[in-house]
Amino acid sequence: MSINKIMVIGAGQMGAGIAQVCAQSGFEVLLNDMNGEALQKGINTIKKSLARAVEKERMTEMGRENTLERLKPSNKLQDAASCDLIIEAVIENMEVKTKVFRELDKIMPKHAILASNTSSLPITEIAAVTNRPDQVIGMHFMNPVPVMKLVEIIRGLQTSDETHLVIEAVAKKLQKIPVEVNDFPGFVSNRILMPMINEAIYTVYEGVASPADIDSVMKLGMNHPMGPLTLADFIGLDTCLSIMEVLYEGFGDSKYRPCPLLRKYVKAGWLGKKSGRGFYEYS
Ligand code: CAA
Repeated sequence: MSINKIMVIGAGQMGAGIAQVCAQSGFEVLLNDMNGEALQKGINTIKKSLARAVEKERMTEMGRENTLERLKPSNKLQDAASCDLIIEAVIENMEVKTKVFRELDKIMPKHAILASNTSSLPITEIAAVTNRPDQVIGMHFMNPVPVMKLVEIIRGLQTSDETHLVIEAVAKKLQKIPVEVNDFPGFVSNRILMPMINEAIYTVYEGVASPADIDSVMKLGMNHPMGPLTLADFIGLDTCLSIMEVLYEGFGDSKYRPCPLLRKYVKAGWLGKKSGRGFYEYS
């Protein structure tokens, strides 16, 4: 089965990044969002990122123009009727995701594949609300999508070998490295990353060191490109909390208990870089 046209649902930082790399790699792309303002913001982010790629001589002016020609905004899920693949990147909420998948299952052609960029929710459960669980799969991109090489490919209980092969080929065409994992809470990436971030937050909470010093230890001592608290702000503290909740609930093990300070920051609206305040302040 060949994939020519892709709809990316959700024009936030992940959705916009995914739409950009898909269009850059030669796919026809619809970037869909119900919220007109969010959609415009997503398109503007892509335009800025492509302009920077030209400036840095990573892309030609012609490449930029062709990429933008392949990318169209969409504000109706119904537009998915002309697509071979959807990549869903809406908020990390099972109710919202299953609602979108139920609707898409009715709209999309029979051959189409439904992929979710979920960072931790079970693919098997999302697939179960459709009549094509064999054509549902996880495609977990990393932030910033244009830069990070990994795509974690998550097979649900009923995902077919054919779906897996098609999605692996799409990931390679996007010049990413696909890694296959089974459907367990947090998959591999967040099962390992989030407890480290949560532990860094406990280290602040218990007064062991300041956020800047904790980040320095991990950057200078372990050669991480960003300290865990800078990374948490970059990912979004609400996202970090919701992934920790999935791990805590999914494994029922106290080692995944979200730090109370993380809960407090999220309740205060300190969500990291996107809200202007997290462990650091952003102007
Ligand atoms: N879009 C496109 N390009 C970007 C970018 C973006 N959002 N952010 C940075 N870049 C590019 C820059 O343009 C730059 O390229 P040039 O040198 O050619 O200009 C290059 O990346 C390096 O950027 P910087 O020099 O500004 O800064 P840096 O060297 O610190 O790199 C970084 C930035 C790549 C983000 C690096 O800090 C890093 O790798 N951080 C860790 C990121 C990470 O761990 N991501 C995974 C998060 S977890 C996740 O996503 C999964 C989840 O479910 C939560």
